[in-house]
Amino acid sequence: TVARLGDVPALRAQVRAWRAAGESVALVPTMGALHQGHLTLVRRARETCRRVVVSIFVNPTQFGPNEDFARYPRDPERDIALLGEAGADAAYLPDVGTMYPPGFATTVSVGGLTEVLCGPLRPGHFAGVATVVTKLLLQALPDRALFGEKDYQQLQLIRRFVHDLDIPVAIEGVPTVREADGLALSSRNQYLSAAERAVAPRLNAVLRRVAEAVRGGAETAPALAEGRATLEAAGFGPVQYLSVNDAESLAPLDRVAGPARVLAAAYLGRTRLIDNVAV
Ligand code: PAJ
Repeated sequence: TVARLGDVPALRAQVRAWRAAGESVALVPTMGALHQGHLTLVRRARETCRRVVVSIFVNPTQFGPNEDFARYPRDPERDIALLGEAGADAAYLPDVGTMYPPGFATTVSVGGLTEVLCGPLRPGHFAGVATVVTKLLLQALPDRALFGEKDYQQLQLIRRFVHDLDIPVAIEGVPTVREADGLALSSRNQYLSAAERAVAPRLNAVLRRVAEAVRGGAETAPALAEGRATLEAAGFGPVQYLSVNDAESLAPLDRVAGPARVLAAAYLGRTRLIDNVAV
């Protein structure tokens, strides 16, 4: 059974008990509405650590005023049942008052990496992510924390501030888990209508096509223009970005010379989808 922890003292007591028994601890931060992407992180965590704690917290500070905070899917009982099957030992479900008590006034803001891609499109989003992940890491102080490549910019940002702030936790990135047709699993896929769901895998197909086209060092602009046109013709819009970037700094690239990533964000109806692939 999965231990259910609701506040910082309970979390710390649990982790302390594991440590006293000589057991290693992994943390998998989530916002719930768990799917096989999240559960893959949990199973991967179990391969390297004896104990796995999963946090479930729909973090208000990373949602913009016109985003889906209020309607974000929430089903903690189902989530905890799935965590049990995946082999997690504990679920940490703090409430908003535990994470942001009255008077809370501190923000972790990361330069550079947040100035591209989703950064300018979602003001405050990455500061909200960096602040809550910093808190979760310091609350649990695990040996290791795992994050998906699905949210590639988020993963790079977390690597950056964990390094910059000397947070003593190993960060592991896990490849994106996809449906058979290529669509990246996402809690937001449940917003898609049947017709939108049928179109959604085109996003991944276009990313793979761009990656193929730029791999040898050709100019990225023509492949990106063609990819964007393909997405728009398929029914995506607006396409917020389709871009080839350095895999680590996320600086946009005119040509690929080293490790690179193709990343996109596009609306399909009311739903905003993101995806990325390695070049
Ligand atoms: P959430 O969207 O719930 O995702 C939790 C973790 O699961 C993230 O590390 C995310 O990258 C990973 N994930 C989601 N879909 C995935 C997929 N298809 N394949 C592999 N990994 C996947 O990301 C967040 O929550 C929040 O921003 C959080 C980090 C918890 C901070 O609030």
